[in-house]
Amino acid sequence: MNNIVKHDYIVSRENRNQKNGHKSYVLWFTGLSGSGKSTIANRVEETLFEEGISTYTLDGDNIRCGINKGLGFSEEDRYENLRRIAEVAKLFVDAGIVTVGAFVSPLHKDRELVKGIIGETDFIEIFVDTSLEECERRDVKGLYKKARAGEIKNFTGIDAPYEKPSNPDVLIETEKESIEEAVKKVVTFVKYKLGL
Ligand code: PPS
Repeated sequence: MNNIVKHDYIVSRENRNQKNGHKSYVLWFTGLSGSGKSTIANRVEETLFEEGISTYTLDGDNIRCGINKGLGFSEEDRYENLRRIAEVAKLFVDAGIVTVGAFVSPLHKDRELVKGIIGETDFIEIFVDTSLEECERRDVKGLYKKARAGEIKNFTGIDAPYEKPSNPDVLIETEKESIEEAVKKVVTFVKYKLGL
């Protein structure tokens, strides 16, 4: 970019990680709307936080009320939504914080983009695999009903695609395991990565 010169800071990520006593990562939860990703992500953050780990959660609905207000659900808008979130998550991870993100992030190419921005070694992909039938049965927010009625367009799973991750770091199958089991599985993996 013209006339932009990147600045090196005196306090580094390593300094912050050392002070915190742990490394920092992005925990990226992907899955259909209503799959349970926000619930599990929140409980994971709570557990890590209670163990003294510096954490923060970025969540789809909340981000779309602020920094990404005005973006919709076309393929282009989802791309821009996720690109900006990845840049924000990258800052958080540089700040030494274990950053939890819960986003539908339905396309393989967009998750690859996110991973590329954050950096492969800082990115942990968690796939909350809940079938469309089950998400629709739960329909916590009533959105599937609206999507079926044609009141919401481009709804993931109905008239917009969800491409399952082929090789996630952690796989959660909410129809086979309880929330407690899922949270424990993620926390165990993350603590291992954090060296705790
Ligand atoms: S994306 O695809 O990653 O950009 O989506 P995300 O930012 O995670 O936002 C998903 C939440 O927005 C609500 N919502 C929709 N989801 C999918 N498709 C369409 N068309 C849509 N319209 C609104 C929905 O409540 C999602 O929240 P979760 O927590 O996933 O249920």
